[in-house]
Amino acid sequence: MSDTTYSLPQIPFDSKDVESVLSKQVVEWHHGKHHAGYVAKANEIEEELKKASSSAANANYSQYGELKRRQTFNLSGIILHNIYWQNMGGDGKADESLEIVKKILADFGSLESWLTDFKATAMSSLGWVITAINPLTGNIENFFM
Ligand SMILES: [Fe+2]
Repeated sequence: MSDTTYSLPQIPFDSKDVESVLSKQVVEWHHGKHHAGYVAKANEIEEELKKASSSAANANYSQYGELKRRQTFNLSGIILHNIYWQNMGGDGKADESLEIVKKILADFGSLESWLTDFKATAMSSLGWVITAINPLTGNIENFFM
């Protein structure tokens, strides 16, 4: 097993640039507590996996299996926060020349319809909401994870 260490990336913007939609306090909480917590736990899990017995792994319960479940949870938290930070900013207007915007307009009819569904999905979720293509239908949809 390789020596993997995860690190907390810097936020690629000044929190003042997004304060119309996220307060500085919320940005600091998501980055300094939430995102940092996923990084710290993922690093702990990497160390624990080096000591865990993979030969005892099974589909019901094993230390190895539980560490792998926790690893998946924490790495998804890191990856989703990374994407989140990279997508913040701009002037709030959608660039209709982008393929994703064209697809949203084609499948939802308008950005307002997409946003209404996105917010409803978020209100139904305990975690993340993403906009993605459903590979079973080819349509763009909002999903919670
Ligand atoms: Fe967060």
